[in-house]
Amino acid sequence: MNDVLVKTVFLTVFRTAIVGWVGIASAQQPGEYLGPCGVAASKDGRSLFVINADARSLALVDAGGKVTRAVDMPARPTGLVLGPDGTTLYITCAAPRGTVCLLDVNSAKVTGIIPAGHWATGPAVSPDGRRLYVCNRFDNDVSIIDPRSGKELARVPASREPIASAVTPDGKLLFVANHLPAGRADRYGVAAVASVVTVIDTETRRPSTIHLITGSSSVRGICVSPDGKYAYLVHILARYHLPTIQLERGWMNTNAISIIDVAARKLVNTVLLDEPGRGAANPWDVACTPDGKTVCVSHAGTHELSVIDAAGMLKKLQAMQPGGFSNASIYGEPYYDYEYGAYPPATSADVANTLSFLKGLRRRIKLTGNGARGLTVSGSKVYVAEYFSDSLAVVDLAAGKDKPAGSIALGPKPVLTVRRKGQMYFNDAAFCHEQWQSCASCHPDGRVDGLNWDLLNDGTDNPKNVRSMLLAHKTPPAMAGGVRPDAETAVRSGIEHIQLCTRPDEDAKAIDEYLRTLQPVPSPHLVDGQLSPAAERGKKLFFDEKVGCAKCHPAPLYTDLLQHDVGSKGPTDRRADFDTPTLIEVWRTAPYMHDGHYATIKELLTTGNHGKIADKLDNQQIDDLVEFVLSL
Ligand code: HEC
Ligand code: HEC
Repeated sequence: MNDVLVKTVFLTVFRTAIVGWVGIASAQQPGEYLGPCGVAASKDGRSLFVINADARSLALVDAGGKVTRAVDMPARPTGLVLGPDGTTLYITCAAPRGTVCLLDVNSAKVTGIIPAGHWATGPAVSPDGRRLYVCNRFDNDVSIIDPRSGKELARVPASREPIASAVTPDGKLLFVANHLPAGRADRYGVAAVASVVTVIDTETRRPSTIHLITGSSSVRGICVSPDGKYAYLVHILARYHLPTIQLERGWMNTNAISIIDVAARKLVNTVLLDEPGRGAANPWDVACTPDGKTVCVSHAGTHELSVIDAAGMLKKLQAMQPGGFSNASIYGEPYYDYEYGAYPPATSADVANTLSFLKGLRRRIKLTGNGARGLTVSGSKVYVAEYFSDSLAVVDLAAGKDKPAGSIALGPKPVLTVRRKGQMYFNDAAFCHEQWQSCASCHPDGRVDGLNWDLLNDGTDNPKNVRSMLLAHKTPPAMAGGVRPDAETAVRSGIEHIQLCTRPDEDAKAIDEYLRTLQPVPSPHLVDGQLSPAAERGKKLFFDEKVGCAKCHPAPLYTDLLQHDVGSKGPTDRRADFDTPTLIEVWRTAPYMHDGHYATIKELLTTGNHGKIADKLDNQQIDDLVEFVLSL
């Protein structure tokens, strides 16, 4: 370890504890959870490292499946990667001032902490070990770090919420998955709303962009094949351009893997992970086996592992587009082939609409735990973190069986509080007819997917932008048109009309409890938790009666809970007055207004002249006002 780093880093003292529960028979208390969300294996495959998001710890698991140690992390751990020499583990920890924790694998001691950006996550290390890459999810950029000096060498802009990254085996390119689409949502064309992949040339540090197909959102995981030829990423493929009337045909949220040709830096195609009548909701993480022949995908909503014959999938795709690349789109109806293979895709453009594409090329393995998250492949074994069960699923690929080989308990069986149950139900696609989607499919992390949906609660052909769950229960009525009296009603109608299922009211109450207790994430626009000077100036304007924002958006909730006609009626709307939304955490919930018409708040205030301030305030004042609103 480099001296400079050691000096700067050891200011923080760490507690390395032998895990309390080992050998002690005491049961876990309700409300105390580990929340495993990621896993890595040592080079020899004899040890596992598990990050526990809720316990803010890293657990070491030995060859016998016993937790031998837990090491405290400085904040909620979000991702981990083992350095190429196998001696150092890099663990990203999420906070407004995010960090990367360096852990010496042999001593299980934290040897350093490197500062990174807001909500550090999705780490990757170059094959020579000389560069560490970290996604700063809420700063919308990527840190390039020299892990030996602990110095951040550069920040490279990504798109919106970079969440996972993977580097090519030659170290030349970094593929960064952006969680959400950026831009306005009221576009429905072939190349409309979708997340993008940011590709960073590691030498020049220049970013470029690969567009995913329309409706690609909630990207969670990305990996590069061992031969460096393909990048695979998993996400939701939303049919947001259709009215939400045909859940069972996959006309709402489908679940997908996109394949990128690394050399050409182009999307090859997007393949559905669902089957006719059986969704594979909320794909979370993806990894290749060392021989590159198999791709594994964890499904958070259906608690499964997909084991895909990568070679077979690529061959099938190539046969369809020899030498060419994707003209994939979702403009066509997804085939609902009652009989497998009844409608084989005729061209590459049909692939993203074919629910049987992976027939014969994929095994679905039902895991015993709940809430599959990060996974790792080690030898012939796949380990999957199971968030709500505090366990790791173990799947043996060599066994060729359709069930897990075992499960590793990371702690005592968790005792679920009502809130925890609610969180689990919100993320569970078992709540949904045929398991197509969970509430989190449109409300990832209880927030927004950035898309418009034509729900049927206020007639058809008037799509609405997804609303965040934060403060929903404190700000009745619910929905942009106020068509539900409160969030409680909206939760129950979501279960009944979106998930098309019937559940006891107890379950809805649990979801209420979870949503009621969501806490805002501090804005990336704050400086050390405080308003910046520009935001302070903007605050004065916001509360100035002559400007008038606070009339309809009064503190502390920044809404008067009333509906107003603010001139935002669009061509498809049947009403002109809309619910005044809270502005808390509005930095995170773009695009804006009931129809997602504005990509930024600046656009809303200038082009949209919202609050009728365009001729009252100069450009600097508008920038200050925007800065304040983005700091809430
Ligand atoms: C297909 C996407 C989709 C799914 C799945 C979905 N929602 Fe929504 N949800 C929306 C959209 C779009 C809105 C805003 C609609 C409007 O403004 O008219 C919304 C609004 C809400 C609101 C009102 C928020 C407010 O403050 O006005 C609540 C509460 C809610 N959803 C809960 C849920 C729950 C609980 C589930 C699962 C049972 C769920 N949603 C599943 C798309 C979805
Ligand atoms: C007459 C009441 C009124 C006034 C005054 C007003 N707003 Fe609004 N605001 C609304 C309503 C209603 C909406 C939602 C409209 C819609 O969904 O189409 C809204 C939406 C917004 C949004 C988008 C939020 C989101 O989640 O989409 C922002 C940001 C905002 N207002 C900021 C401001 C600022 C800044 C001012 C002062 C310059 C201001 N508002 C003045 C009523 C008002």
